[in-house]
Amino acid sequence: MTKVKTVFGCQNCGYQAPKWLGKCPDCGSWNSFVEEPVSTTPERYAHSIAAAGRSLPPQSILAIETSDEGRLKTEMSEFDRVLGGGLVIGSVVLIGGDPGIGKSTLLLQALDRLAGKSVSVLYVSGEESLRQTKMRADRIGVFSKDLYILAENSLEKILDDIQKLKPKVVVIDSIQTVYTSQLQSAPGSIGQVRESAGKLMTLSKSTNLSTFIIGHVTKEGAIAGPRVLEHIVDTVLYFEGDRGHPYRILRAVKNRFGSTNEIGVFEMKDGGLEEVANPSELFLAERPIDVSGSVVISSMEGSRPILVELQALVSSTSYGMPRRTAIGIDPNRLSLLVAVLEKKVGMNLAQQDIFVNVAGGVRVEEPAVDLGIISAVASSFLDKPIPSKTMVIGEVGLAGEVRGIHQAEVRIKEASKLGFKRCLLPASNRSRINWECEGIELIGIGSVEEALETLF
Ligand code: TYD
Ligand code: MG
Repeated sequence: MTKVKTVFGCQNCGYQAPKWLGKCPDCGSWNSFVEEPVSTTPERYAHSIAAAGRSLPPQSILAIETSDEGRLKTEMSEFDRVLGGGLVIGSVVLIGGDPGIGKSTLLLQALDRLAGKSVSVLYVSGEESLRQTKMRADRIGVFSKDLYILAENSLEKILDDIQKLKPKVVVIDSIQTVYTSQLQSAPGSIGQVRESAGKLMTLSKSTNLSTFIIGHVTKEGAIAGPRVLEHIVDTVLYFEGDRGHPYRILRAVKNRFGSTNEIGVFEMKDGGLEEVANPSELFLAERPIDVSGSVVISSMEGSRPILVELQALVSSTSYGMPRRTAIGIDPNRLSLLVAVLEKKVGMNLAQQDIFVNVAGGVRVEEPAVDLGIISAVASSFLDKPIPSKTMVIGEVGLAGEVRGIHQAEVRIKEASKLGFKRCLLPASNRSRINWECEGIELIGIGSVEEALETLF
């Protein structure tokens, strides 16, 4: 009998070792090694281009033809935009997110629209039975005849059915529930995930089939298994949101066919997900007026400016070590900005707990929100409200200077559209704006002190 060659693979990051290890030398996780047979199938490492079965001699870049026709539009505009203007034919898209966030619902809804345009779609559910999927479909009003449902976990059977049905689009929900009989490890293990995705990818590239692969994220925030797929798939989308809020954000983190950082905003309702065309309005809807610690900032999400409310609460600490808690912004950024307030403005925050939260469960990561964070913290500390029709944007340096930001114009236009009357922005941006923006006063700011003087 031939001995099956095996390796030990870390279930967290995919690191492989010839023998069992207690701690992964790569990602540091404990007890994460599982014995897996060495796969002999070369497709596992198949590169997308090689897999397409074409090996042409080198071509001049001018001789290569491109056309824009290779996209399928779902007509769900938020979804299409995140994909870069529709689903590219033959592409493989990974959708990650927490369990229960709405990934199955999103894909069922979006692909129902495609199926409604006579594009045949196969939805493979490894988690729910046909009846369960149908019940969900009824609930969200999905009823296209060209949408086929398959409840199956075996990769071989799935591939077989794909070849028989020849759909244009396939959804695998989720990759953690699919297994190939060529490997003995359990579904969801790194080996299984990589092998199954590799096979689907090869089929997809060689037959111009567009494939969505759904992957669950673990509590730690990493797509444990599917994370190893990020570099082989064409597009990686994350579906995120706060369980306590109905808003869901679809975010592109990698896209070979479009811009990343594009987002789509949805609201989870009883009848499924609804697109939110104007997120700023939604995020500002419940804003308290004339309350200290609240400020409106603008964050660019892809090509769109989104206005959100940032709240800070500063209260004296009862422990020796004051707390700094940030939700929706980078905690390190908060510490840094608090230090700037202490050193450059002389605000004594050493005995204060500071909490900062972005309302609506949104996450903002741009430096352009710095001045907003500073203003909110100062507003709460001084207990002086910032006028409600004021927007604050700008990056803050360690010397307390306010630095220029990109795309100030579009942010101002969005604020003006929503009825804002005043905008504090970096002086360098102000000097470059020579048009009159209707109804909004633009105030150029050079330093943190100047900003606080203007506001309070
Ligand atoms: P689901 O799509 O099953 O999440 P995932 O595939 O990411 O695990 O969504 C599950 C949640 O969405 C569930 O907790 C209930 C909620 N939901 C609604 O609020 N309205 C709806 O119409 C549907 C279908 C689900
Ligand atoms: Mg699901």
